[in-house]
Amino acid sequence: MLRFLTAGESHGKGLVVIIDGVPSNIPLKQEDFDSYLAERQKGYGRGGRQKIETDRAEIISGIRFGKTTGAPVSVFIKNRDFENWAAKMDAWQRPAGLEELNIPRPGHADLSGGIRYNHKDFRNVLERASARETAARITAGALAVKFLKMFDVEVFGFVDAIAGVAAQYSKDAPVKEIKKLAAQADAASQACLRFPDKNSVSNVKAAIDMAVKEGDTLGGVLKIITSELPPGLGDYTQWDKKLDARLAMALMSLQAVKGVEIGAGFAYASATGSAMHDEIFHSAKAGYYRKTNNSGGIEGGMTNGNQLEIKAALKPISTVLKGLKSVNVKNKKAVKTVYERSDVCAVPAASLIAETIVAFELAKAFQEKFGSGDMDYILSNYENYRKYLKKYRG
Ligand SMILES: Cc1cc2nc3c(=O)[nH]c(=O)nc-3n(C[C@H](O)[C@H](O)[C@H](O)COP(=O)(O)O)c2cc1C
Repeated sequence: MLRFLTAGESHGKGLVVIIDGVPSNIPLKQEDFDSYLAERQKGYGRGGRQKIETDRAEIISGIRFGKTTGAPVSVFIKNRDFENWAAKMDAWQRPAGLEELNIPRPGHADLSGGIRYNHKDFRNVLERASARETAARITAGALAVKFLKMFDVEVFGFVDAIAGVAAQYSKDAPVKEIKKLAAQADAASQACLRFPDKNSVSNVKAAIDMAVKEGDTLGGVLKIITSELPPGLGDYTQWDKKLDARLAMALMSLQAVKGVEIGAGFAYASATGSAMHDEIFHSAKAGYYRKTNNSGGIEGGMTNGNQLEIKAALKPISTVLKGLKSVNVKNKKAVKTVYERSDVCAVPAASLIAETIVAFELAKAFQEKFGSGDMDYILSNYENYRKYLKKYRG
């Protein structure tokens, strides 16, 4: 079964990801990884770090002549900034006179991580807690995106709202349509925002500009949608097999995500059942179908045949230029945090990372249902399932 682990620090030599359980014979190109790595570094509101790094996936194992072999796929992503950090991140020798970071930054892992691992130099915590780790994670997700394409499944992550400016688009629009709207808005605003509403994209840009001017930061809401998925992925029979639960956990693990909503989510809580539940219809042509998708494509922990719709809320970036109150842990003096180069808003990049996080969980669900090992074997099981669905639908 697909799984992965990452290692590496923000200013260390680089990031490593090992992806295990990858079926053989998935066709891949260097570009499949590097396009995601490049897109992750974009986004209006990102900091100077992104200009230094030009990420590239160096394949260490598991891919031969453009196809996965079935062996673990391992990838190295070099930190180009390491040349400026080699001494400060040296494995063996502490450079003389190196200042420690003794002021924990609110909103970061610094203080809790320092307590957990007994560090008072918070660099030992922040280097690993940093969202630079997502460069490794997105590489695993890029492979999952390619896997899902073999089933004609598309996943797209985009920005739903920033600073209270919510994108206006048809809520039932399919992936292709939303992708087009986001591309049009990006072209109109000449900024990478992944925001599918060209009429209000300039308001988002202005809100980010204002945050930059005020030395502040912003969060927002991202959304991930998929093309229609086959019904029956996931499971209702055990708590940890439920697809909604697994997606929520995976998305919550993305740095700064503080809420996950599937379909109508919190709106369910203040509405009646008769108004909200997606009623079931049948026709000879479509089989079973729904006229609404408040469930976001998941009922009882399983896909129901509709497109998946999930949102995640991101808190504002924790490193704030104007500084936040904190305490120096060496002398217990009240101080303001020290600024280190940082993003002002990372919701567009986070929406792309979330796209690949969802893709990875879905790829696992496909594997569970249709098998592992070789892609031809998995795809033939999928074909059989489609025949079975046709019969079931009548
Ligand atoms: C793509 C992305 C980029 C980020 N960039 C920064 C950054 O430059 N500076 C910062 O302070 N936080 C940044 N963050 C947010 C922090 O990583 C996050 O606030 C921190 O890890 C704590 O999050 P948690 O409370 O959800 O664990 C970024 C998050 C994401 C998803």
